[in-house]
Amino acid sequence: MLFKKSIDSLIKESNESGEGTLKRTLGVGNLVALGIGAIIGAGLFVRTAAAAADHAGPAVTLSFILAAVGCALAGLCYAEFASMIPIAGSAYTYSYATMGEVVAWIIGWDLVLEYALGAATVSIAWSEYLNKLLENFGFSVPYALCHSPFQTSPDGISGIINLPALFIVCLLTFVLIRGTQESATLNGIIVILKVAIVIAFIAIGWGFMNPANHTPYIPVNEGEVKFLKGQEGFFDFFTHSFGKFGWSGIIAGAGVVFFAFIGFDAVSTAAQEAKNPKKDMPAGILISLAICTVLYVLFGHVITGVANYTEFAGAGKEASVAYAIEKYMHNYHWLSTLVTVAILAGFSSVILVMLLGQSRVFFSMSKDGLVPKMFSAVHPKFKTPYKSNLIFLVFVGLFAAFIPGDVVGDMTSIGTLFAFTLVCIGVIVLRKTDPNRERPFKTPFMPVVPILGAAVCILMMIGLGKHNWERLMIWMVLGFIIYFAYSVKHSVVRKNQKLQN
Ligand code: ALA
Repeated sequence: MLFKKSIDSLIKESNESGEGTLKRTLGVGNLVALGIGAIIGAGLFVRTAAAAADHAGPAVTLSFILAAVGCALAGLCYAEFASMIPIAGSAYTYSYATMGEVVAWIIGWDLVLEYALGAATVSIAWSEYLNKLLENFGFSVPYALCHSPFQTSPDGISGIINLPALFIVCLLTFVLIRGTQESATLNGIIVILKVAIVIAFIAIGWGFMNPANHTPYIPVNEGEVKFLKGQEGFFDFFTHSFGKFGWSGIIAGAGVVFFAFIGFDAVSTAAQEAKNPKKDMPAGILISLAICTVLYVLFGHVITGVANYTEFAGAGKEASVAYAIEKYMHNYHWLSTLVTVAILAGFSSVILVMLLGQSRVFFSMSKDGLVPKMFSAVHPKFKTPYKSNLIFLVFVGLFAAFIPGDVVGDMTSIGTLFAFTLVCIGVIVLRKTDPNRERPFKTPFMPVVPILGAAVCILMMIGLGKHNWERLMIWMVLGFIIYFAYSVKHSVVRKNQKLQN
């Protein structure tokens, strides 16, 4: 039997007030700010350069476009759900109502990869840029204390722990516990700063582009050329040359820079705190996504024009924007410092929204009995799920301190792409199973949009390669063990349905 939550009961829950519920304080402006706050971050300022160096070259701009197409399609599906089920929990809640408890668990568990590991990834990027800033003032954190034990410097020094990454996760967890309204105000200020700095880099950097760096725009992938000419089999091409430049590099690059778009769906996790969720949710999601796409493509074009993409594999690997400015944009050292400060603030807002999203998803799962009650314990004064925030501080902190950024970054991407795929499928399922329910926002061109959305997301997952698939599988197996050992016995929906029968 399929255990499902009824949408009516979800909406009723979202309207309840009193002890144990969240305050409705966010308007559409706050939501777009929340979206951009979560979207522009390490994906743009760190992973763009990595994707260019390892996969796509200057054609990272095309990777951005491919990733944006996938996000826009999935975003339209998210918007339909967010407008009809305006309750905290995001894709988790939607799937509980549409595809039943097991799928909901899979998504909720998978979203930990998106939010918790996403926060860890950005905190690691924060640590890189902090070091860059300190270098401007003649200091630096020793390599061993700002890298994971799995990393070694070019001079052979091994990392031990990433202390700055751990520090920022702790600091922001405490900001979050103080309350959503306060965090949203801080977030608003940071968003303005962050967007201003991206625009400044694009505008000033445009004049420093060297056309030679953009030639060829799509670096050649010999294996791919042979495969396309029929001189090499698909298996050989796939195992040896897929993803290192050429068209397959653009796909692999899309999987990497997809990270830069993660977060627009975090808007939907705040539905229970939105003043007018039906109208404001879709607007919040789509407007923030559109603004970011334009900025990203321009940014990708400029950064690979200012510095050659090959440099981002070596000297320019860490804090790539500051590197490009300092090396090529003479007389703009001040911009490098300013950009670095803005980036540090910008990363903070991303981490904040990620941590917020994580605690909200587990808030819903805890209310449903799928994870322990402490995840929905609300602070009597601040009205925030403080216990959940503290538990995730430990979890995120461990990844931030001990795992390399590219590993957690790609795990975040694959986990999120998987959740998006399920959301796309969910929208089709719900149109069939509940066709008459009011949908203030409807996904257009059904079922083309969700089918294409799922297809593009799966393509990007393929681009992320075998190791990330293995990590996703391990995480999911762990999730199933917890589900059958704990959640099945405590599920509120199961208990209620058994009482009715
Ligand atoms: N999109 C967010 C970032 O790029 C997660 O940092």
